[in-house]
Amino acid sequence: MTSNPVRHFIDIEGMNSSDIKDILATAHSIKKARASKRRSDLLQDQTLAMIFDKPSTRTRVSFDVGMRELGGEPLMLTGQEMQLGRGETIADTAKVLSRFVDAIMIRMLDHEAVSELAKNATVPVINALTYYSHPCQIMADIMTYEEHRGSLDGKIVTWVGDYNNVLVSWLHAAEHFDFTIRVAVPKELMTGMDEIKRLQDKGLKIELCETADKAAKDSDLIITDTWVSMGDDDADRRHNLLKPYQVNTRLMELAKEDALFMHCLPAHRGEEVSDEVMDGPQSVVFDEAENRLHAQKGVLAWCFHKTNMDMA
Ligand code: CP
Ligand code: NVA
Repeated sequence: MTSNPVRHFIDIEGMNSSDIKDILATAHSIKKARASKRRSDLLQDQTLAMIFDKPSTRTRVSFDVGMRELGGEPLMLTGQEMQLGRGETIADTAKVLSRFVDAIMIRMLDHEAVSELAKNATVPVINALTYYSHPCQIMADIMTYEEHRGSLDGKIVTWVGDYNNVLVSWLHAAEHFDFTIRVAVPKELMTGMDEIKRLQDKGLKIELCETADKAAKDSDLIITDTWVSMGDDDADRRHNLLKPYQVNTRLMELAKEDALFMHCLPAHRGEEVSDEVMDGPQSVVFDEAENRLHAQKGVLAWCFHKTNMDMA
């Protein structure tokens, strides 16, 4: 009997579109089933090590609760409490953890280190945010859009604000869905031109816009994120450059009438987004946060080769 290949969830770029769609279908059906029955035994007797080298509210709680609801066990670890914080290599850590647990979820800024962990682990590794990307977030975002408005195909998705990890995973999503993504980032903070050119060369529909207003016009979805991500140390400069990129009522009015607003959270109200938009009728930010739970159950199910199962 041949065993299933180890499935890592590091970036959605390069994954099979059919796998992305399986994860989302599983997430939707798990969410539906949960309305009447919270617990299942999909991942019974499986343990997920969760390594947090950086703070988290949503990712930590949603993976922890999600693992329990699927019948498995979460194991919370922080980088500083582990020997990793005292110089044990990431490769050795991967090999040791693989002897104890059935999957590893990690939040660490160094993307190369997370890839190195996956290379050396014999169990699935899930990227729970690096400085480069945040793929779990985007699965929840797509799920949320689908719930509210159906397919993303043919839509205009607009990113306004900083160039960061959440944007990169949204750009990667354009490989799997037929949407156009507009990007309005101040040129001084546009650190990802090479990445964008590389993805445009692959045929992804990415449009760079000079202003937030141009980007927002007739959009189906407006997304922003904090102006200062974990690992950034130039907060004052960023605040000055990003002031014209706030998502407020005036900007939302340029988009389509039924456009949605998303933010991965935590939000800095009055900075990248106004209270009116955060709390307004177009905002789906709390559905988006809740969907981290369901989308990540879909990711876990995929990692364990358990998508396409009856979730009822
Ligand atoms: N959106 C997100 O990843 O939130 P946390 O940092 O709270 O996990
Ligand atoms: N871009 C943000 C996302 C937080 C969930 C950061 O990296 O801090």
